[in-house]
Amino acid sequence: MRHFKTDKPTGQKGNAIGQSFIHESAIKQVIGKAVYVDDKAEEVNSLHAYPVVSTIAHGNIVSIDTTSAFAVQGVVDIFSTKDIPGTNDIGPVFSGDILLTDELIEYHGQPILLVVATSYKAARIAARKVVIEYQTLEPMLDIKQAIKEQHWVRPPHALNRGDAKQAIDNAQHKISGDLDIGGQEHFYLEGQVSIATPTEEGGMFIQCSSQHPSEVQHLVAKVLKQPFNYVTVEMRRMGGGFGGKETQAAPWTCLAALAAFHTGKTVKIRLARSDDFKSTGKRHPFYNTYQVGFDQQGLIEGVDININGYCGYSPDLSDAIVDRALFHADNAYYYPNAHINGNRCKTNTVSHTAFRGFGGPQGMIMAEQLVDDIAYYLKKDPLEIRKLNLYKPGRDLTPYKQKVEQFILKDMIAQMEEEGDYWARKEAIAAFNKTSPIIKKGLSLTPVKFGISFTVQHLNQAGALLVIYSDGSVHVNHGGTEMGQGLNTKIAQIVAQAFSIDMAHILVNATRTDKVPNTSPTAASSGTDLNGMAALNAANTIKQRLFEFAAQHFDVSLEQMQLSDNQLVHEKGQISFAELINLAYLNRISLSTTGYYATPEIYYDREKAEGHPFFYYAYGLALSEVEIDILTGENTVTRTDILHDVGSPINPALDIGQIEGAFIQGMGWLTTEDLSWNEQGALASNAPATYKIPAIGDTPAVFNVKLYNSQNPATTVFKSKAVGEPPFMLGISVWSAIRNALASITDYQYAPSLNPPATPEAVLEAVQAAQQWNKTTMQTTTKETSHA
Ligand code: MTE
Ligand code: HPA
Ligand code: MOS
Repeated sequence: MRHFKTDKPTGQKGNAIGQSFIHESAIKQVIGKAVYVDDKAEEVNSLHAYPVVSTIAHGNIVSIDTTSAFAVQGVVDIFSTKDIPGTNDIGPVFSGDILLTDELIEYHGQPILLVVATSYKAARIAARKVVIEYQTLEPMLDIKQAIKEQHWVRPPHALNRGDAKQAIDNAQHKISGDLDIGGQEHFYLEGQVSIATPTEEGGMFIQCSSQHPSEVQHLVAKVLKQPFNYVTVEMRRMGGGFGGKETQAAPWTCLAALAAFHTGKTVKIRLARSDDFKSTGKRHPFYNTYQVGFDQQGLIEGVDININGYCGYSPDLSDAIVDRALFHADNAYYYPNAHINGNRCKTNTVSHTAFRGFGGPQGMIMAEQLVDDIAYYLKKDPLEIRKLNLYKPGRDLTPYKQKVEQFILKDMIAQMEEEGDYWARKEAIAAFNKTSPIIKKGLSLTPVKFGISFTVQHLNQAGALLVIYSDGSVHVNHGGTEMGQGLNTKIAQIVAQAFSIDMAHILVNATRTDKVPNTSPTAASSGTDLNGMAALNAANTIKQRLFEFAAQHFDVSLEQMQLSDNQLVHEKGQISFAELINLAYLNRISLSTTGYYATPEIYYDREKAEGHPFFYYAYGLALSEVEIDILTGENTVTRTDILHDVGSPINPALDIGQIEGAFIQGMGWLTTEDLSWNEQGALASNAPATYKIPAIGDTPAVFNVKLYNSQNPATTVFKSKAVGEPPFMLGISVWSAIRNALASITDYQYAPSLNPPATPEAVLEAVQAAQQWNKTTMQTTTKETSHA
């Protein structure tokens, strides 16, 4: 394997850490040599499976007729719940996520049967020929109805500090608002896909596209009523996961394994794109409300925020997702008194799931709406209100009572005000808007503070397996998965650094449950923090062994010894790393080990709704400028400047890539990606033709991304910070800038609410609300004048 460096910013010479090595698969991906699950050569006699899914959102199955499906040439068998030897409930944390249903239908697209055939085409055609009769029930699709009926998948949970109600009542000013926030389709380029192969030992070998191979292993075993060692999962790479393959890769793998179990043959399952859209969960849509009390300066005194997630039909990960929304409803701002409640609403849709930010974005946008609304209400600049309310020493306690300990946003904002020329551009934009009747410009700078750690404590652990072959080449396995984010490259850099050897000597490839067991999902942006530390611990164990061996062998002191530039250097001389390894082998020194890591310091007491759920916070900010057309509602981002904190970066180029991608994905969520379900609960936006993700042309014309230079004060791997999710929420700057453009219509006295996604329709509606506001305010003013 070759590790090239790019010409992007690099760190110190001679170190692997801080250098911009290109992604381990980049060239293979570009030339088409990177193998994904669906690219693997098919075994002779292998079979294909396809699910039969419901065509109603709620009801009961009355009858099923498979005659015409069986008549399709190539059909081998059709499986139902009766064929499941073990459990049919594959809930990852709580029960309620069903593999196949035989009676109650709870969402449109719910799997009922599994058709197995000799070809993909035959399986798909036959799946459509199954005739199912239903007795339909009214689907619950309206979240306000669900709230009223307390229709939950999990009980509500609230954060409380001080007396929010009283603080709001006593405040000089109070305002309230609400926001209907859209969901988001993951749109990974590689859809859900799995291959299950019965092994000669009578077990099951799985190749799949999953962020959580251990959970897939455990669930397949439970469905088949087998011990966990019956199943081995291999996962080389995903063509994107974005959270959509944290729990929701498992059902498809379980189905493939069920068919392989009964037929004794290799079975592949791959969802067609529109079925992937319909039958897999998305980012949760939310409906949130807020009330805030503040003083004449705009200093927040109390907030009452109510957060409601559309969870779909089952718990899946919704409990943790709504928790993360609660934990981020403050974003970077201090709320002296706060009541923040989170409801997990049950609706008759597919079960919504993890998606980059994991509920954080849907909580954080409330904080940004609220500070903007305060600013327009007081006729002050929104950035002033943001700065005023930032966490600072003495005003550092979050609503869940974790103390904020790092206050770099103030400095980051100052840097951006200057480099992004905030104040001059703001003035120029206001002047432009005065003379431009149709095109209006807007500008907004929004910060991000994102908590790093799984909020489920036991998930904050990782393992690694490190082996050195007798020629000095190194193979590392770890519990994380590669989904494009560059985790394997970073792990290789960490091990290269630990041994001070070239990247060319290190191989990190497929994740396997028989190499590193009981792993956590690669999620919560913690892949490098957890697995990098486990790999580093493994490397340090072997390093110690090598040093002790060399000290004895060469009769030199341990203290003076070091690994440097592919050599072991000691008092009496030096020896190459490869020679050292061979010597150690000949002297019977073990050259393999495991490494383990568990994040210290974190806990959360759910009863008290307080604790220290995050090891540290990652920070960032974006300054976006937009243009809207008030006749059509069309909007474009003309410039975005980002300053983002990745601590001391392990690989600056990969980090910048993550920041760029996350920002664009966040912008897509808030502007163009419009999920719509029809009145029967069927997903209407179920293909690229009806669901618009950002294209390359949507990149801001000017797009500057910079890393903020600072070490992580927490003891993370080489002082780096997680980067996967935090920059997603930088996209909020675009939504806030559109509101700023809308506010120009009212001469910045009022910004109409703007329910994301800010599609042209939504923007046009807000334009009309602003124009209406002008009319009413004018009338009031006129009236007041005539009375005087
Ligand atoms: N980057 C790419 N290219 N593809 C992905 O699927 N997923 C994101 C982020 N960046 C993703 C990505 C999500 S949701 C998470 S949680 C992190 O990567 C997971 O990887 P990490 O913990 O190694 O950063
Ligand atoms: N983030 C992502 N995935 C998770 C989390 C989290 O905080 N908790 C459980 N799964
Ligand atoms: Mo990411 S949503 O934590 O997989």
